[in-house]
Amino acid sequence: MSKIKTFYQCQACGYTSPKWLGKCPDCDAWNTLVEEKSSPKPLQTRGYNPTGRSRPQPLSAISGGKEKRMSTGINELDRVLGGGVVEGSVVLVGGDPGIGKSTLLIQAASNLSRETGKVLYVSGEESPEQIKLRAERLSIDSASIILLSETNLEGIINITSEVLPRIMVVDSIQTMFTEELASAPGSVGQVRECAARLMSFAKQSGIPLFIIGHVTKEGAIAGPRVLEHIVDTVLYFEGDRGHAFRVLRTVKNRFGPTNEIGVFEMTDSGLIGIENPSELFLSERPQNAAGSTVVSCIEGTRPILIELQALVSPTTFGMPRRTCIGVDFNRVNLLVAVLEKIAGMHLGGMDVFVNVVGGIKINEPAVDLGIIGAVASSFREVPVNAKTLVFGEVGLSGEIRAVSQIDARLKEASKIGFKKAILPMTNAARLKDTYGIEIKGVKNVDEFIEAVLG
Ligand code: TYD
Ligand code: MG
Repeated sequence: MSKIKTFYQCQACGYTSPKWLGKCPDCDAWNTLVEEKSSPKPLQTRGYNPTGRSRPQPLSAISGGKEKRMSTGINELDRVLGGGVVEGSVVLVGGDPGIGKSTLLIQAASNLSRETGKVLYVSGEESPEQIKLRAERLSIDSASIILLSETNLEGIINITSEVLPRIMVVDSIQTMFTEELASAPGSVGQVRECAARLMSFAKQSGIPLFIIGHVTKEGAIAGPRVLEHIVDTVLYFEGDRGHAFRVLRTVKNRFGPTNEIGVFEMTDSGLIGIENPSELFLSERPQNAAGSTVVSCIEGTRPILIELQALVSPTTFGMPRRTCIGVDFNRVNLLVAVLEKIAGMHLGGMDVFVNVVGGIKINEPAVDLGIIGAVASSFREVPVNAKTLVFGEVGLSGEIRAVSQIDARLKEASKIGFKKAILPMTNAARLKDTYGIEIKGVKNVDEFIEAVLG
């Protein structure tokens, strides 16, 4: 067998070098050179005879049919997967260390092993004894969960071909390595190569594969980000370890909608799915406190009511501070500028803090009115009625623009017991059913502030 050639490539600009360098001579970035495998010689295409699968064929001639799905037994996980695990699909589960990735997948493995058959759980991080301890804590005891403590990719693929599980979990792609690359496990080259090999194995064998990947605070390098375009489905855990809530969000899905979220609570006995997140997110809401609004967001296919909080206080240092948790920083800056210019609120000498309760992240334009409402409420020190819901997009000249899926939003609010909704005039005018909620349509920010603060 010929020796496999490798080279070093700058992950920032693509410069290649036969040996490792600390600094890329081309773009001057430090520590960006990573070992890569050189691609094999291009195939001889002369005389290429298309056979079998790769022949072009008319769309109508392909026998389709629905993809086969298996339920994981965890409703919230099925939801983010688009209705269950698809055969031969590769799902990447990303998130900070310690957020609950292994816990969720061992729970899913337990349910799947009961329903479908053998589940192979490959761990490069924990010994079988450690996994057993966790399983005991979760009251999981199954002969159909096969544990394998291994980090060598070639070994894993060989063993999997022997065991032939119905489902496979690879706990942390960062610990896996292939013999073909000399670089350390966790480097971009290793992570990408291992994932690509596992992916092609899953596609050939039809075994659905879950890959766990850690994300570091800095994000990109060697994190699962480099894998996003390879795999079929990308799920990320949001929320921090301080909160008991965990949000699992679909960032990409070839078999279902994206931006779908599953909400879990971390308890002594593992992760428990929360069927009605709106109630949970609003449960600790202070009554009649200034600076709090409730907005309705569409996350994937379901509406969720979320509390937004703002605190406006005089700046003690020269530069006013803007701090945002859970919402886009630039969006908040923009809305503060709209309030200043259009509504005449002097926020230039004020620190503004905006927070989304429950550790969830939202980036939907419909929360604009909620942010404006919370900031204005805190600035004027006038509370917003606890039974009032707001949503709508705000433009730069203070106009309020229509948002989608009004019916779903109102229906959810009515279920939770909201009495009034302040929403864009265009939406209000087209509304057919009000679901027992008093509707107030507003055209611009001035009208909105009048309506919400009275
Ligand atoms: P873990 O799933 O190992 O996180 P990850 O694989 O994402 O690194 O563990 C998550 C945390 O949850 C860990 O700090 C312990 C805690 N935990 C519970 O609170 N309850 C439980 O039942 C389990 C198994 C873990
Ligand atoms: Mg883990």
